[in-house]
Amino acid sequence: MRRAACPGSFDPVTNGHLDIVRRASSLFDEVVVAVGVNQSKNRLFTAEERIEMITEAVEELPNVRVEAFEGLLTDFCRDRDIVAIVKGLRAVSDFDYELQMAQMNRSLAAVETVFVPTSPEYSFLASSLVKEVAAFGGDVAHLVPPKVLARLGERLGERRAERRGERRANRG
Ligand code: PNS
Repeated sequence: MRRAACPGSFDPVTNGHLDIVRRASSLFDEVVVAVGVNQSKNRLFTAEERIEMITEAVEELPNVRVEAFEGLLTDFCRDRDIVAIVKGLRAVSDFDYELQMAQMNRSLAAVETVFVPTSPEYSFLASSLVKEVAAFGGDVAHLVPPKVLARLGERLGERRAERRGERRANRG
């Protein structure tokens, strides 16, 4: 059994992530989508929400499961007999940091990193950009699964309402 991990923050999951997960699932017997839940102030979605959205999106892939991970990715891999970390590479700019992480992870545990070139239609895609474009009213329907699009709309609406409330309170 060759098991791989697709790690990330997935805040939120995009069609680019799902393309990599799908391709990893055809290369390995089993794929664990590892959702990082280490503390960070800047998340739009909670760990539970991020996990729920990915779980729904990979429903049709029988050899893919989704798990939260905290702490070191290499510990997560070691505990689950994961032999490879699969990462999508969008552009050369991704490479420096990804290589550094791959080498660090390899120095910590017997886990290889497999780089998969991002499909050209997703080479510009990042969760951070999706959030920014959606926050300014741009159309991201072609970049995320429909359920993520709906939740993105809801959450950004909530954030806008919160900010309006804060402005009103500040005006006194
Ligand atoms: O989607 P992201 O934010 O690019 O994902 C980054 C992630 C979660 C894969 C990376 O930050 C990670 O592996 N974090 C876990 C902590 C860890 O193992 N750090 C050492 C990396 S060499």
